[in-house]
Amino acid sequence: MLCLLVADLHYSLPKFDWLLKQAGKYDVVVLAGDALDLGAIADFRAQTAVVRKYLARISQTTRLIVCSGNHDLDSQSESGEKVARWIDELRDANLARDGDSLVIGDTLFTICPWWDGPVVRERLAAQLARDAERREGLRWIWIHHAPPIDSPTSWTGAKSFGDAEVAGWIAQYRPDIVFSGHVHQSPFTNGGSWVDRIGPTWIFNAGFEFGTIPPHILVETALGEAAWLSAMGVQVVQLDQPLVRPLAFASALPAWVGATIAQSAPNPAA
Ligand SMILES: [Fe+2]
Repeated sequence: MLCLLVADLHYSLPKFDWLLKQAGKYDVVVLAGDALDLGAIADFRAQTAVVRKYLARISQTTRLIVCSGNHDLDSQSESGEKVARWIDELRDANLARDGDSLVIGDTLFTICPWWDGPVVRERLAAQLARDAERREGLRWIWIHHAPPIDSPTSWTGAKSFGDAEVAGWIAQYRPDIVFSGHVHQSPFTNGGSWVDRIGPTWIFNAGFEFGTIPPHILVETALGEAAWLSAMGVQVVQLDQPLVRPLAFASALPAWVGATIAQSAPNPAA
């Protein structure tokens, strides 16, 4: 299974255009939070309307997984917590979002909402506990916008901007992979990285760059390899090997990455 991970598109329409063009090359596309941007000039209703259309079109070309980030919270719940109602309301057939857990092939995906208070946090804790009961024999991947605290994937260059709760859940449940985002600088700063390993768990955060192509991570589960592609270059890790730092930039693209990139993108559905 070939997965594409991006996050933190922050209402950049050129990046959504890129994602729409690329999506059909992948078995699964993951957008790990912050599709919208609280600081953008366009108001939130306009942003959600536009992004919803992109997500619907992407989900016509492949399986799409979307979780909320802190920039996606457009509403307040009855208990007074900020929530991403527009993501809860997504109903496209090929799209899974916050609160969904689904098995694709040999992999269980748990899609975690951004939580702003105890109600959503406890709902997420219950979802993880439920999924732990059925992970046996499956690869277990979480989609959680914030990476864990005290990880290079959450290092800003000055402090860890990660999440303590998810660090605790990772220690408790030891999932195979956590797809995250949120801390834009991590892959580009001293002491930071796009990848970490905590016990058996691989953590990924592709980071943020300006421009039309978001930094992104490809994971080929059959080969057990992950590659990070950014304006800085390409780095690759083998998922069945220990993580050894410093990671070198690849002098040539691994064949499977080159073949994926070279593949002409299918025409996105009109
Ligand atoms: Fe974020």
